Amino acid sequence: MKTNSFAFYAAVAAFSIAIISSSAQDVNLPHLEKQGAVTHLIVDGKPFIIFGGQVSNPIGFSDRMERVWPKLQSLGANTVEFPIYWEQIEPAEGTFDFSDLDKIILGLRSQGLRAVPLWFGTYKNGAMDYVPDWVKVDTRRFPHVLDYGGRPIDVLSPHGQATMKADSAAFAALMKHLKEFDRTDHTVIMMQVENESGIVGSVRDYSPESTKLLNGPVPEKLTTALKKKPGTWKEVFGGRAEEMFTGYYLSSFINAVAEAGKEVYPIPTCVNVWMGGYDTNDRMTEFDRPGDSYPSGGPQSHMIDLWKATAHSIDVIGPDIYHQSPIVYRTILTRYTRPDNPLYVIETGRGIAPRFLFYALADFSAIGFTPYGVDGGPGPDVSAEFTNIAAGFRLLKPALPVIAELQGTDKLKAAVEEEAITGRMLYFDGYDILVRFHPATRNATPAAGPVAPSGRVLVAQLGPDEFLLAGFDAAVDFKPPMGSEFTEAQYLHVEEGTYENGEWKTTYLRNGNFSIGGVQLSPKGAMVRVKLMKY
Ligand code: DGJ
Repeated sequence: MKTNSFAFYAAVAAFSIAIISSSAQDVNLPHLEKQGAVTHLIVDGKPFIIFGGQVSNPIGFSDRMERVWPKLQSLGANTVEFPIYWEQIEPAEGTFDFSDLDKIILGLRSQGLRAVPLWFGTYKNGAMDYVPDWVKVDTRRFPHVLDYGGRPIDVLSPHGQATMKADSAAFAALMKHLKEFDRTDHTVIMMQVENESGIVGSVRDYSPESTKLLNGPVPEKLTTALKKKPGTWKEVFGGRAEEMFTGYYLSSFINAVAEAGKEVYPIPTCVNVWMGGYDTNDRMTEFDRPGDSYPSGGPQSHMIDLWKATAHSIDVIGPDIYHQSPIVYRTILTRYTRPDNPLYVIETGRGIAPRFLFYALADFSAIGFTPYGVDGGPGPDVSAEFTNIAAGFRLLKPALPVIAELQGTDKLKAAVEEEAITGRMLYFDGYDILVRFHPATRNATPAAGPVAPSGRVLVAQLGPDEFLLAGFDAAVDFKPPMGSEFTEAQYLHVEEGTYENGEWKTTYLRNGNFSIGGVQLSPKGAMVRVKLMKY
């Protein structure tokens, strides 16, 4: 039907742009930019929000990835997170083989997908399983962490200088190859350095060299950055000394790897986090202890300041969120959204994640959101556990430029159903908006008891009297604010549709009494543009 292009609300046009990523030396490369209150990931000159799909750990080979393309399309993803294994690209020291990676990148391009590859180097889930054989067998050159009893465990020591150099050399070789193979296409938009780093099995390395360092002073650059008085690790950090000590050496190690790569090819880098500590732990019935319930020294939320002080070559610390409590989920989003850290949910999935996509985009200005393990199950479509997240991706993806433009302003808000939250008021400039969830089910089955939350809506103010609604299972009503000269809002146009190449396309004009009881967004999802007047 009708095609409109529209101007965004004037306020969002005035951006102060400051480039915060070192990756911006070449402005054509993907990089991070601070624009007003938010930081965007810029790809090909425009803000890019990652709707990602992470494949399972063993899928990072071209023949297996080929089989997953239909799943990623069914997910509605625009980006793939896939592992690159150190053991695969450097089977013998100094001998590199990127042929399979090239096939994957060509496949991504054919699918119109971008990528955030995951460097499975020295650290993978607090262990060392993906390092090459020549690293595994040389335990003298590449020392393991020794636990409290002096036994070597399945983790390489963050104090191992040779390990750090070998990992850095491999990562730099990888980035050099990417520079040659991808610098004009920008298929790879960010690199994750290591995976859920830290030590599982010990709070620190108990080797004599490590113990000597622990009994020495905390490096001045760390005490200065954290505004602490000088002293030994115990004096400065008390009961947290060993975890902070591990965090300092681990983050410095990973920073060295990232730096070596960025020197060659400066695109953004990130690290992901196995959550733990201070109300973010996945395992709520266990004592929450570094090295035990979560990897010691990793960038858990109470370690972010330390990581930011030491790991300057890491741009984004992104949480892996599997928790099913909305309180914990929100706590994690809050802690990882900072002026120096845009929110990138690097892994999540199932359960409550589909509704947190909406919060992440509107309330936390997320630059990315990625469910893990999307390759599972038979057939070309994602399995049932991902259908709700896929529905969200597919609905919102055409509107991502609008969402990115309005992030960080008061013109983008989310209304999300939670247990016992059956409606939500949103307050915009000139309009109060009531979003009621689950309208059809609630009316049809009043005695059926509680229903699973499914209502989730993004509301974007496009102009003084114009809104975009995108979401599921809700009815949306408008009123002038209390105390204004008007008492009622009247619909001028209610148009269902979507964006195509940034242009609004109306597919269905909802006229007459169609919007009595609010603008309905069906359980299957709808995007609607509403033009109003007040009287
Ligand atoms: C978190 C890790 O980062 C992933 O690589 C994967 O192992 C998942 N856990 C499995 O749930």
